[in-house]
Amino acid sequence: MKVSSISPLVLALVLALAGPATTVRAEEHIVRVVSDLENLRMYFSPKYLVVAPGDTVTWVNEAAVDHNIVTFPDGFPKGAVAFSSPDLAKPQDKWSMTFTKAGTYEYHCMPHIPMGMHGVIIVGQHSADQDFHQPSARELADYRGRLLEYFDEDEYEYKTRDR
Ligand code: CO
Repeated sequence: MKVSSISPLVLALVLALAGPATTVRAEEHIVRVVSDLENLRMYFSPKYLVVAPGDTVTWVNEAAVDHNIVTFPDGFPKGAVAFSSPDLAKPQDKWSMTFTKAGTYEYHCMPHIPMGMHGVIIVGQHSADQDFHQPSARELADYRGRLLEYFDEDEYEYKTRDR
């Protein structure tokens, strides 16, 4: 049977039988990057977000305040890749990430760690403890180096002691 002999009706039937998977569209989800200067609060909204594999999350900065979006070194599933956005410095600066690997992704804004500026994306199902990435010594050293770009070690120790 030649392809041209398949009637449009049969073709439509075949496509319908292919099932709902063909009709599911990847979604885009927005996370607001909020700077509440009046109350000295910086946060992601929503803080917890559940998405489907294949979906995209877009973080949108709302103020002229520097923020970024960085995974914790042990805060993403095995087999996934750590992410790290460029600085979002202006209102409406945005950054997107498409999630294909299921699991739990914990992230934070590096300059605002002391303000508890962190969030969680759950893709499909949350990870069990043993499903998280185990960072290497090299990754941990790199992460610590990035932290020190924002926090002077001596000053941070001083703040910790003073609390
Ligand atoms: Co921030």
